[in-house]
Amino acid sequence: MTSQFNIPSTIIAGAGASRELAPQLQRRGLTRVLLVTDAFMVSSGLAPKVVSDLTASGITVEVFADVQPDPSEDNVLAGFARLQDCGAQAVVALGGGSPIDCAKVIAILPHNPPPMAAFMGRHKVPNAGLPLFAIPTTAGTGSEVTKVAVITDTKRDVKMMMLDQHLLPAVALVDYELTLSMPQALTAAVGVDTLTHGIEAYVSRLATPLTDPLALSCIGLCGEHLETAWREPGNHTAREGMMLAATQGGMAFANSSVALVHGMSRPIGALFHVPHGISNAMLLPTVTRFSVAGAVARYATVARTLGWTRGGESDESAANVLVAGLEALNRRLKIPSLRSYPKMDDVRFRASLEKMADDALASGSPANNPIVPTVPEIVRLYQEAW
Ligand SMILES: NC(=O)c1ccc[n+]([C@@H]2O[C@H](COP(=O)([O-])OP(=O)(O)OC[C@H]3O[C@@H](n4cnc5c(N)ncnc54)[C@H](O)[C@@H]3O)[C@@H](O)[C@H]2O)c1
Ligand SMILES: [Fe+2]
Repeated sequence: MTSQFNIPSTIIAGAGASRELAPQLQRRGLTRVLLVTDAFMVSSGLAPKVVSDLTASGITVEVFADVQPDPSEDNVLAGFARLQDCGAQAVVALGGGSPIDCAKVIAILPHNPPPMAAFMGRHKVPNAGLPLFAIPTTAGTGSEVTKVAVITDTKRDVKMMMLDQHLLPAVALVDYELTLSMPQALTAAVGVDTLTHGIEAYVSRLATPLTDPLALSCIGLCGEHLETAWREPGNHTAREGMMLAATQGGMAFANSSVALVHGMSRPIGALFHVPHGISNAMLLPTVTRFSVAGAVARYATVARTLGWTRGGESDESAANVLVAGLEALNRRLKIPSLRSYPKMDDVRFRASLEKMADDALASGSPANNPIVPTVPEIVRLYQEAW
């Protein structure tokens, strides 16, 4: 059996990497760009700094700063209208996964007309789009190196997962210094998202010899750096470690897959607007307990790679340590349970269980899990995680 591995052709990583944007655009002869970002990036001064650097290099920039968390189709269409107005030759994405995902779909629309639902699933984008330059500011989704975009269809309350090589950024500028400003709650949410990418890529039925080393390195870096980055926001070593973990996790899961945690997490995000990393974290211990029997040795390796076992134990007991360790990690990082999430609606949650389970299964991600669940099993897992 063959497997396909895609990553950006240029990844520049390390302190100050984001300053390579203008030279990277110039060496490709690109002089007119659309910057896709969000309101925080403007108010923090980061987006204006990027604009002034580009302008000083003779590059014309139009700014679309209206990206909302978990971008919707309307959000993408508004950005696309701006792209058409300014006639940009390339798209620059600055921010967390939301601006980067929004920018990915804006960049393909000139050569792939909507409806966007046609791009949902694997390998459904027919044509290449405009070149995309991605600068992540969270660590993170890994979106800067993935061929994945997640766009919410607000009419059906579905987070559409699109995976295609035409969504891949041409250039990723991975600068951990941009993540130093992340507050604790964001560091926890995006850090557990990164860990979930590493774990799901490694236990997935689509894991390959090319993705395994990246997934394990991602997991090891999370074990070493996640809690330090959370406790000490200004710790450069920990921030650099988590940025590297996020990028490696992205390379791993986009070329292996995510699995049941992400499959069940997207419907919670679509219906209840729980941030992506938080809904993953809420589900990770419960889904891991359910899935262990399908890949005991792999889950044991995850526990050992995190540094959570003493060594010499059986795979079964190492996998049990993993489940207990993930529960304890959520407590230490102050991740709320589903039930205690602010504004979570008990009655609506129960009424939505069947829809969430159907949508989770329809996304295709649960089919890659070590144990493939039925709809009633997914409903039961949501209830257990509650
Ligand atoms: N494409 C992929 O491969 C992929 C993978 C995982 C998740 N996702 C998607 O990414 C989205 C989530 O992205 P995210 O978790 O990065 O969050 P986000 O982009 O939604 O950002 C969350 C908040 O953090 C703020 N923020 C960003 N960087 C900051 C910084 N350095 N300091 C302070 N605040 C900062 C943003 O302004 C925003 O208010 C979801 O829609 C999810 O489905 C995509
Ligand atoms: Fe994720």
